[in-house]
Amino acid sequence: PAAPTANIGVVGLAVMGSNLARNLASREGNVVAVTNRTDAKVDRLIEDHPEAGFVPSYSIADFAASLTTPRTAIIMVKAGRATDAVIDELCEVFEPGDIIVDGGNALFTDTIRREAAVRAKGINFVGCGISGGEEGALRGPSLMPGGSAEAWQTLGPILESIAAVAQGEPCVTHVGTDGAGHFVKMVHNGIEYADMQLIAESYDLLRRVLGQTPEQAAETFAEWNRGDLESYLIEITAEVLRHVDADTGQPLVDVVLDAAGAKGTGSWTVQTALDLGVPVSGIAEAVFARSLSSQADVRAASRDLPGPASAPAVDDPAGFVEDVRLALYASKVLAYAQGFDEITAGAKTYGWQIDRGEVARIWRAGCIIRARFLDRITEAYRDQPELVTLLTAPVFVEVLEAAQQAWRRVVSVAVAAGVPVPGFSAALAHYDALRSERLPAALIQAQRDFFGAHTYRRTDREGTFHTLWSGDR
Ligand code: NAP
Ligand code: ATR
Repeated sequence: PAAPTANIGVVGLAVMGSNLARNLASREGNVVAVTNRTDAKVDRLIEDHPEAGFVPSYSIADFAASLTTPRTAIIMVKAGRATDAVIDELCEVFEPGDIIVDGGNALFTDTIRREAAVRAKGINFVGCGISGGEEGALRGPSLMPGGSAEAWQTLGPILESIAAVAQGEPCVTHVGTDGAGHFVKMVHNGIEYADMQLIAESYDLLRRVLGQTPEQAAETFAEWNRGDLESYLIEITAEVLRHVDADTGQPLVDVVLDAAGAKGTGSWTVQTALDLGVPVSGIAEAVFARSLSSQADVRAASRDLPGPASAPAVDDPAGFVEDVRLALYASKVLAYAQGFDEITAGAKTYGWQIDRGEVARIWRAGCIIRARFLDRITEAYRDQPELVTLLTAPVFVEVLEAAQQAWRRVVSVAVAAGVPVPGFSAALAHYDALRSERLPAALIQAQRDFFGAHTYRRTDREGTFHTLWSGDR
């Protein structure tokens, strides 16, 4: 066989892998080896992109032989069993000191397991969250690598060269060891679900309470995109709402079936939060809202249930639009705070040193949740690295102070009008619970002690107590 010439390789040449390989090849100094289970995909990529100078292989053994040491390979295959299969094959031909990167959407607990198994062979394993879809993979994704510090030494410069750039800095950082990168990518997706749900609720209020047309709502979002809410998701919302269906001449949003799909990372975020005991109600409501939208039979059966007799009149439409904007902003702060609470809890449980300000920094470009707002999160953690909750960072206290009355008005109007706002109201309930000096959890503890002798602690002295309730009956 010829001498190895490639400094980096990609296994798996579907949409993501092909684009990532092209991104790598476009950077000075890289020679990129490529392979895929089905040979035809290798041929097509080589044919379509002669400019990339790819080094093709049709077996994992040849692929390994085409790489200079330490060999570095990025796996971009279907998450799950396929990833395990490719890791096993690579481990057969790689040597101690080599690096295997999984760029798929793996569940972080799988990454923890794989890292330990691969490390036992002396090979480095890096689970790397990659965000930004196919466009990001090609032009610059947000990258969330975990794995060892040793692997980051070699991998860091390569990932920095292909990542998206925000304010001159590459959107990549060594998130933490083993599964930390995939954990943070998972929470990123959960936050993305919440962000999309809150935007959808805002749109619904503009239409159903104010009677705005999609075109008018598009203007509202375009206007919002010029202020604090400036973000990729708000920007595309305006574009989506303006889009007219070529077949019917209707606004496209009115002909799209209102059943939202999901690939599962939002559910993972919520399932993991349940395991960690972290309330991520805003994210959970977003996941449930998608599930509810897809329950065609239950929705059809429920269509004629009674609702409010008349919608409340809104005297000041412009004022209501501003209230919705503020409610969206405040709810978004809550959803992000919940996501960061989950990262904080995950880091504690799994022993990761995660710099939360860095996490917000690497989300500023290349990913779906990129937004002006992330700068504020980065600054909040830079000012107070040990911040307990984002909500108490001065910058967000100011936002919540300015927004909270409007937020309450919006939720009230929505409830009176019978327009569901699960994201807005869950976020507001979370906010008010945190503000409460006493919670009715005291009653729940007493009930638990009553029926199950679960005991309770007291406010006035140390210890564990049980009341003999039977005398009360
Ligand atoms: P995909 O549809 O998830 O996976 C297709 C690739 O996996 C093909 O290369 C396929 O090879 C390979 N594969 C499947 N089963 C295999 C097996 N048993 N052994 C070896 N290879 C196998 O492709 P994708 O959409 O490009 O995504 C790749 C990864 O990136 C996934 O983990 C995905 O979750 C993640 N991701 C996707 C996006 C996105 O926007 N799509 C964004 C971020 C991350 P064949 O050609 O032989 O079938
Ligand atoms: P990003 O970080 O850019 O959001 P992502 O997690 O892959 O990257 O998700 C981008 C979009 O691609 C999402 O709409 C996601 O679907 P969900 O909303 O259901 O999570 C979708 N997506 C993710 N993985 C996918 C896959 N393997 N095939 C098709 N679509 C996928």
